[in-house]
Parts: sequence; C-alpha cells; structure tokens
Amino acid sequence: MIGTDLSYAIQLLRSEAVVAIPTETVYGLAGNALSPRAVSTIFEVKNRPSFDPLIVHTSHLERIAALTSEMPEPALQLARRFMPGPLTLLLPKSDVIPDIVTAGSPRVAVRIPAHPMTQALLAALEFPLAAPSANPFGYISPTTAQHVEDQLGEKIPYILDGGPCRVGLESTIVGFENGSEVVVYRKGGIAVEEIEAVVGPVFVRPHSSSNPEAPGMLKSHYAPSAPVVLGDIESLLPRYRGQKVGVITFKRAIPGLPPERQLILSPTGGLAEAARNLFAGMRRLDALQLDIILAELLPEEGLGRAINDRLRRAAA
Ligand code: TXA
Ligand code: MG
Repeated sequence: MIGTDLSYAIQLLRSEAVVAIPTETVYGLAGNALSPRAVSTIFEVKNRPSFDPLIVHTSHLERIAALTSEMPEPALQLARRFMPGPLTLLLPKSDVIPDIVTAGSPRVAVRIPAHPMTQALLAALEFPLAAPSANPFGYISPTTAQHVEDQLGEKIPYILDGGPCRVGLESTIVGFENGSEVVVYRKGGIAVEEIEAVVGPVFVRPHSSSNPEAPGMLKSHYAPSAPVVLGDIESLLPRYRGQKVGVITFKRAIPGLPPERQLILSPTGGLAEAARNLFAGMRRLDALQLDIILAELLPEEGLGRAINDRLRRAAA
C-alpha cells in the first residue's frame, strides 16, 4: 500500500516490519537497524545476499556518535558540509550495530537523508533505520513510490510516498584509510569535486565484484532486462537494423527513431536534471521490451561521473 501516514509507518517499524521510505537520492527499504529480525527481513524482501552490508540512516549528526566509535577529522568536515544530504560515511562501528547490518565488517555506513518526510520519521523513532535501495537485488534503484510498488508492493506492508526523488542517484560513499586518507567507494549524488573542495584530493576506488572493501558494489548492477551497449549511437545503429532499439542520450534526439524509445536525459544539458531522470527513464525504456539499448556517456565531470558509472554498470 502507498500512502503518507507517518504514524502508521512508525507503528510498523516499531513492530520490526519493513517500510519503504523516500529519500532525496532513491527510495529505501527500511527496518530497525538495531533489530537483527527486521534487518533479516530486508535481506529477504530484496533477495539480497547476506554478504552485502546496509547503510544505517539517522536524523542528526549527534546521533551518529552512538553508532560509530571514531570520527576522523575529514569525516567531521564532510559531515558538517553535506549532512543531511546524499553523502554516506563509512566509519568504525560501535557495538550497538548488529553484525548482520555490516555483513561482519568492523565499519558501518551512516547517512542522514535530507527528505523532510524521512527526517520527521527518523526524528520520531528511538532507533536508526537500516535501508538499502528499495529494488530487487541487481535492478535499477526506485525514484518514485510507484517504482517500489511495481516490484516489491506485494512483499511489504507500506510504502511512504514522498514524491519523485530530487537527486535520483544513490549517495556518494566515502571512507577513510590509514587514518585520514579519503576514499570514494561509490560515486553518487555529491560530486567527487565537491568532496575534494572540502578535504583535498581523494582516491576514487574503482568498483568491482571482487573488491572486499565494498562487496555490494558489483560490476553488473542497475541493469535493465534489455542489454545495454555504450558508444557512439550513430555508428552503432546500423549493426542493429531490424531490431527494436532504444537509446539513452545526454541532450539530443536521434533522427529516425520513435520518440518513446528515446531517453533524452536533459534537453538543456544539465547534469543534475540528467541524474534525476536516469533511473525512471531506464525503467520506462525497459517496459518497452526492447532488443537492445544504445547509450552514450556524458561528460566525465561532476555528477556526469556518477551517471557514467551507472551506465557502465548497466552495460556490464
Ligand atoms: O542513497 C543511498 O545511499 C540509498 C538510500 C536509500 O539511502 N541507499 C543505497 O543502499 O543505495 P544500497 O544498499 O543499495 O547501497 C549501499 C552500498 C552497497 O553497495 C553496500 O555494499 C555498501 O553501500 N555498504 C553498506 N555498508 C557498508 C559497509 N559497512 N562496508 C562497505 N560497504 C558498505
Ligand atoms: Mg542498491
């Protein structure tokens, strides 16, 4: 069921049920992070392997202190600048976080979402919420309540509707190694350049399925059911003559293709708008039962880097 009843969501979460929640990045599938029972329900509903840890969401910076055992200086600087917002920090965990949440890792991922409905929810609860993106494992993240309903509606009691997600890409995940070396593990809603403006140069660790630091950041992810091929669309098109082709472009239309099979991410060439449109657009294309989706990469700067990361993973 989709609705906007906060007290009902609170009641469900207090009884260890899971509820889908809006955030400014993507919708999450939330449960009491301190309850192994609630957390294992999240894994079941998503069909997510137990080695892939979950982000813990809370309402205030002061509340992060109880969830973690250490806050390096650059973490504090980033938290002050970007929280609430699309930033997740990987920090040494405190004992209150059950091992199932971090898949046995000594580090916990923490985030303060900026969405007002979820802010109010988190502030009202006496526990933090573990929440992965509210999609079946490996599929595109949901950016509307309806996306969640389409795939998980029958498995969960309630979906809080906070409208379409303002950012549309998952949070940027940042951790700290050897004391204060800053590492970006997942490019997301805050551009790497914005992080660097606060803490100086960072490492961007390429994701892979064999990266033990972030087991969930699998190479093939965010994948629609039609195969995705990246490259120069005009030169690729002749190879797929006679097939039902869809395209993803940054800002231009491709002549000769039906408009409904074209996802133009931002006609005005804005990266934030492109980010906002990407996942919903991929779902729309996916519903057309295409044989193939041809996609072009965006400029490799700002949010373009995170968008390209998702396109590459959809194509992997
Ligand atoms: O924007 C977001 O981050 C959304 C919203 C709902 O907050 N959440 C989200 O969660 O994207 P999820 O589970 O789909 O992706 C979280 C990523 C996974 O790749 C997971 O492996 C990684 O974060 N992660 C979580 N906890 C971790 C930990 N303790 N150590 C390493 N990686 C972790
Ligand atoms: Mg996810």
